[in-house]
Amino acid sequence: ICFTQEQEDLVVKSWEVMKKNSADLALKFFLKIFEIAPSAQNLFSFLRDSKVPLEQNPKLKPHAVNVFVMTCESAVQLRKAGKVTVRESNLKRLGSVHFKSGVVDEHFEVVKFALLETIKEAVAQTWSPEMKNAWGVAYDQLAAAIKAEMKASS
Ligand code: HEM
Repeated sequence: ICFTQEQEDLVVKSWEVMKKNSADLALKFFLKIFEIAPSAQNLFSFLRDSKVPLEQNPKLKPHAVNVFVMTCESAVQLRKAGKVTVRESNLKRLGSVHFKSGVVDEHFEVVKFALLETIKEAVAQTWSPEMKNAWGVAYDQLAAAIKAEMKASS
């Protein structure tokens, strides 16, 4: 896969701007996911077992930020290596956690849609088809790598 320096910059620089507002961004991202797929709430143990309202749940932010940060890292790796190699939290664990939580392929599409919509609203005037494509490609490659590990752990 060919990912250019311009595409990497579109992803990394827009995240630099958005991350100042990451708590708000995280909540909007989750609300969009659950608007499209309400039953996806049941996948998350910290939502299932919680009595606090969604918007006050402190565990919401880490997953959302993880998706943003790891998609950014994926963009950087795609440009450098042409493929995704998740370093920190290893891919095997990501695969087994998602598989055991009951996540299926369709959830990745919902999350992609919600991610792109959240970015579009957050960056407002700087949003462009090129930015949408760069985030989309970086996300797709990362999602494919996680899905492959989910199949391997099933
Ligand atoms: C957990 C990242 C997509 C649902 C996690 C964790 C990370 C992560 C880092 C914590 C893993 C651990 O405990 O070691 C990502 C990334 C994604 C992605 C980078 C996309 C590229 C999704 C999707 C869903 C999902 C599509 C389903 C809507 C979950 C659930 C957990 C989890 C249910 C376990 C939460 C819990 O009960 O503690 N994810 N995720 N993730 N993710 Fe994702």
